[in-house]
Amino acid sequence: MTRILITGAAGSIGRMLRTRLAQPGRALRLLDVVPQEDTGDGAELLTADATDLEAMTAACHGADAVVHLAGIPGERPWQQISAVNLDGTYIALEAARRAGVSRVVLASSNHAAGFSERGDGDLPADAAGAPDTFYGVTKAAMEAMGKLYHARFGMDVIALRIGSCFPEPFNVRSLATWLSPDDCGRLVEAALTAPSPGYRVVWGVSANTRRWWSLAEGEAIGYHPADDAEAHAARILAAQPEPDWAGDPDLYRAGGQFCRTELGGSSG
Ligand SMILES: NC(=O)c1ccc[n+]([C@@H]2O[C@H](COP(=O)([O-])OP(=O)(O)OC[C@H]3O[C@@H](n4cnc5c(N)ncnc54)[C@H](O)[C@@H]3O)[C@@H](O)[C@H]2O)c1
Repeated sequence: MTRILITGAAGSIGRMLRTRLAQPGRALRLLDVVPQEDTGDGAELLTADATDLEAMTAACHGADAVVHLAGIPGERPWQQISAVNLDGTYIALEAARRAGVSRVVLASSNHAAGFSERGDGDLPADAAGAPDTFYGVTKAAMEAMGKLYHARFGMDVIALRIGSCFPEPFNVRSLATWLSPDDCGRLVEAALTAPSPGYRVVWGVSANTRRWWSLAEGEAIGYHPADDAEAHAARILAAQPEPDWAGDPDLYRAGGQFCRTELGGSSG
């Protein structure tokens, strides 16, 4: 029996993964700071703060891998976001190390590289950090922290630069950046099961026709997306002219409108 600890499990992506990662021979241990519903699926439910090293180390004991989702998913004042996202990443990796867990999957974000611009080819997943917000800084630091724990301690660390992970694409930009719930499940499954991946950064994006983020790094760990936001394009584009992908900064920058969000303000 393998055991996977998922932090931030009560959140949007955590709930998507709860059903998609369940399989025979695998136990899910679900941790969140808010109480979770016992759905009768046999998952072990923990209510704890992911920034509490003692609690996290205890939660990691007996686990084979950690999927670290707990965090604030948008822009906030620095003190607030660094306390959860930055400290929480250190705690997740350090707790895993102390408990002897050799693999950690980190929920990074396109906002770690938000000021990267669309070029001729696909943007590689290891494009240098170019954060667009304090939120993006915490995700760039998350990737650096993961790289440290791999280099120092030989842990397998896979940072997923997740785009827009929602049930459906909801605006023009998300026609390029959407990660479907099923592809999110496929991506995390690949990150959990790829043999000896070492340290990787991978885009979390579906096989969208309008995608400009590389899938090569994901394919290298066995992530083969099956969904395409284009299936929703007619609905989204019905009320507007064809978007100007090369001329609109919200479309040609990886971070979209986060690049013009007031620092420390709302996520926009
Ligand atoms: N949804 C997306 O499109 C997207 C895109 C890029 C990155 N991400 C990242 O993926 C992760 C999950 O995102 P989401 O959309 O599910 O967000 P969410 O807000 O729905 O879920 C986050 C969960 O983390 C929990 N949490 C927050 N602080 C905690 C703490 N100190 N201890 C324990 N639990 C805590 C919250 O209670 C919540 O259930 C986040 O790290 C986010 O930055 C999400």
